[in-house]
Amino acid sequence: MQATLKDLLARSDLFAGLTPTELEAIARACEPREFERDETIFAMLEPADGLYVIASGRVKVCVSSSGGKELILATLGPGQFFGEMALLDDAPRSATVVAQLPSSTYRIRRQDFDQLLESHPSIARKLLRELSLRLRRANAQMESLVTLDVVGRLARFFIDLARQHGQLLGNGWVAVRRPTHQDIANSIGTSRETVTRLINDLEQRGLVVNEGKMSYLREEVLRGEGE
Ligand code: CMP
Repeated sequence: MQATLKDLLARSDLFAGLTPTELEAIARACEPREFERDETIFAMLEPADGLYVIASGRVKVCVSSSGGKELILATLGPGQFFGEMALLDDAPRSATVVAQLPSSTYRIRRQDFDQLLESHPSIARKLLRELSLRLRRANAQMESLVTLDVVGRLARFFIDLARQHGQLLGNGWVAVRRPTHQDIANSIGTSRETVTRLINDLEQRGLVVNEGKMSYLREEVLRGEGE
């Protein structure tokens, strides 16, 4: 178990490149936390207890309006982390995080995380790099919400999903664990009915195949050529 955790940390966005001894010290600070599909890991505005590293599964980061409308800001998968912002700015959680698939995570408490940041400048650098990347993605999402029509936004959604969480099969197809149509709708600012209609159209054109829990996407959809 400990070896698996060390392997995960060694491949994670935040701790890659540290020595085995350093990874062992971080592994000792990790508490396993398991979540079922659709389980809320924490809610926006809650006080922060720690940072989470994802071992398996996928989580969605979302904000909701008082009317219950949800916007999904990002989805994160194995090796990625979340829950750093409230630790860094000493404010409540900036968003709600929900397990989109059954997910195994490790939690590092605030005090241990603070110590890690102080003793390892390389972790701080990786953290800044990832925060920049997420800001770029957030900018791109804002841009696509304002400048693209819904077909373009769906194509952009699939491109991002495949790049971040997809598996290239090498035969012109990419495999991804399928999000619900509602989650896709909440990521691109449209209704579930519109997503269902557009995906049915892509299926009829042979660009998307749904099988069990998986979706298979033709690579040309990912280049925006399926529009
Ligand atoms: P925190 O504010 O502690 O809790 C919510 C977490 O969601 C936040 O830390 C980040 O880890 C993550 N998060 C918030 N906004 C975004 C975003 N735009 N892209 C990716 N992750 C985010």
